[in-house]
Amino acid sequence: MRDIFDKVKANMGPLGMYSSKAHGYFTFPKLEGDIGPYMMFRGKKLLNWSLNNYLGLANHHEVRKTDAEAAAKFGLAAPMGARMMSGNSVYHEQLEKELSEFVNKPDTILCNYGYQGMVSAIDALVDRRDVIVYDAESHACIIDGVRLHMGKRFVFKHNDVEDCEKQLQRAQKIVQETGGGILVLTEGVFGMRGDQGKLKEIVALKKKYSFRLFVDDAHGIGVLGKTGGGTGQEQNCQNGIDIYFGTFAKSFALIGGFISSEKEIVTYLRYNMRSQIFAKSLPMPIVIGALKRLELMRKHPEYREKLWEITNALQSGLKKAGFDIGNTNTPVTPVYLNGSIPEATNMVYDLRENFNVFCSMVTYPVIPKGMIILRLIPTAVHTLEDVQYTIESFSKIVDKLKSGKYQSDDLAKVQVEL
Ligand SMILES: Cc1ncc(COP(=O)(O)O)c(C=O)c1O
Repeated sequence: MRDIFDKVKANMGPLGMYSSKAHGYFTFPKLEGDIGPYMMFRGKKLLNWSLNNYLGLANHHEVRKTDAEAAAKFGLAAPMGARMMSGNSVYHEQLEKELSEFVNKPDTILCNYGYQGMVSAIDALVDRRDVIVYDAESHACIIDGVRLHMGKRFVFKHNDVEDCEKQLQRAQKIVQETGGGILVLTEGVFGMRGDQGKLKEIVALKKKYSFRLFVDDAHGIGVLGKTGGGTGQEQNCQNGIDIYFGTFAKSFALIGGFISSEKEIVTYLRYNMRSQIFAKSLPMPIVIGALKRLELMRKHPEYREKLWEITNALQSGLKKAGFDIGNTNTPVTPVYLNGSIPEATNMVYDLRENFNVFCSMVTYPVIPKGMIILRLIPTAVHTLEDVQYTIESFSKIVDKLKSGKYQSDDLAKVQVEL
């Protein structure tokens, strides 16, 4: 027998084991001030590339005004209770209606958090007779939804449509015996690498196989497609996506999410999604704030155009300077480098302290040992000067990385706050 606390203290987890050296700096940093390209970090103003504030709405004057007025009028408590019991409102229904139009689906259900919404929707849709087929690099919310599934699941190699077909063949054999159905899960945009899911090709597999496609488009909504309707719109295959998910946590610069589909499917989710039935509904200011953001997205295509101008300048500039940014075809911009975890921390420390640039760092165990990703998220409120300065700074730190200047046996020495 063992004590649960003893077990946890002996093994804090793959990231938790670094907490005493990283907390407050590499992990759990505190970015302060208005959300935008320049924010305060430990008392210094840094150029910030780490927020998914794609369209720059977080600090938009109309958004700030609407958020404040809605909070003053309704407070944060209203409406009380779950939607089904007492927490519904005309604003919630209006937002669902407008989101449906935005993503070109008949109906929509709001979710309190995107993550929970995905997990819970997957849980509601499948039972032990059904088979799930999903992309190997799916976000944790898909993985955790799959973990709840009582039936078979098959994973396909990341964005490999041939392998997806192979797994569909395996799934087909199973459901022929169980009498179940097949649910394919993937993403519109993979948030780490920035590559779009091959949605059009997966939709085309419907000609040969019978399945329903559920797409997590957290990074695509508001960003991709002619009117910001997401990756399905971008790839001209939105009709082939049976269930579409978006979060408010990125281009909307808010919190919450939504799932859109056929009317009867959304009705089923309303009455069967445990994360929504057994949880309080979204507060009114969030819902009214989301309506405002949606209005701005529709009214101002130039925000999206600006985002793409900055994205294209950043990505082409990085490539020209010799950086490997992989196969991103969205604003998500990973810079792939080689080095150890201590080197990564020393380099990021230098970048923050001496170049005043803040971006996210990804290392093992999230990615293979020896690899470092510095991930940049351009937004509509960055400038071409920000891009230029960042590329120059990156060139300097990577020269130092290559010449071994960041080598060390230990993580960068920073004063951490635990
Ligand atoms: C691909 C993807 N799906 C789902 C989520 C979860 O969304 P939320 O932050 O609204 O819970 C995220 C956000 O981190 C994401 O990147």
